Amino acid sequence: MIITVGGIKGGTGKTTIATNLACIAASKADVLLVDADDQETSADFTATRKEEHPNAPRYTCAKLTGRSVRTELLELAPKYQHVIIDTGGRDTASQRAALAVSDVLLIPFMPRSFDIWTLNKVATLVEEMKAANPKLQAYIFLSRTDPQGQGNENEEATELLKDTTSLTFLDAPIGSRKAFAHAASQGLAVTELIGAQRNQKAIDEIMVLFQRSFNVTPLSQSLELAAR
Ligand SMILES: Nc1ncnc2c1ncn2[C@@H]1O[C@H](COP(=O)(O)OP(=O)(O)OP(=O)(O)O)[C@@H](O)[C@H]1O
Ligand SMILES: [Mg+2]
Repeated sequence: MIITVGGIKGGTGKTTIATNLACIAASKADVLLVDADDQETSADFTATRKEEHPNAPRYTCAKLTGRSVRTELLELAPKYQHVIIDTGGRDTASQRAALAVSDVLLIPFMPRSFDIWTLNKVATLVEEMKAANPKLQAYIFLSRTDPQGQGNENEEATELLKDTTSLTFLDAPIGSRKAFAHAASQGLAVTELIGAQRNQKAIDEIMVLFQRSFNVTPLSQSLELAAR
């Protein structure tokens, strides 16, 4: 299974989601996390994880860019059970190369930033990439939502996402929660936080997203139980 976390908007939570999914999947499977963003945030996260938490579930992290994302993955992917690709928030050659070989595209969408232009553009990108890679499934879901629910922005955004053809709306919102930032700064998934920083809502949210996006029921169910 090759999953790309992408989209064409910056700061929507792509790296947060990609690294959480990689850490969670790594406890049960051989995982490759591909950092296809020049900012190298996923690679930095992984270095922190391996230095500070050498006993935490391990995955391999590789930095790939441009066309190499596709060509190298064709060789690397068969060696792993799951590949998760973190891309930058723009329509780049790296993201297109990732989508050419991916099974799933996960698009986090921030309700506050919602503008129909971005949505139409990402839908067009998906349609173009589906022509090259018909197996590609594109899922869009709310990310960094305000847990207090300011007005009805979440509902409005949900309606908009449900109406977007070529993208499937995933009812797996990720709230804006300090636990995600705390975990990221330590090289951990939210499921791995202990003590006062641990937040069950954040854990439940990421596990629902994990389950829906991998769609591998036995693996995700056992992980969900382990996280509780
Ligand atoms: N669910 C969340 N709750 C709280 N903070 C979050 C959440 N998701 C992301 N953040 C914070 O928001 C910032 C941007 O997140 P992140 O780096 O994951 O986004 P990105 O989409 O990968 O950005 P870029 O487009 O620059 O690659 C980070 O500081 C991160 O800690
Ligand atoms: Mg990022």
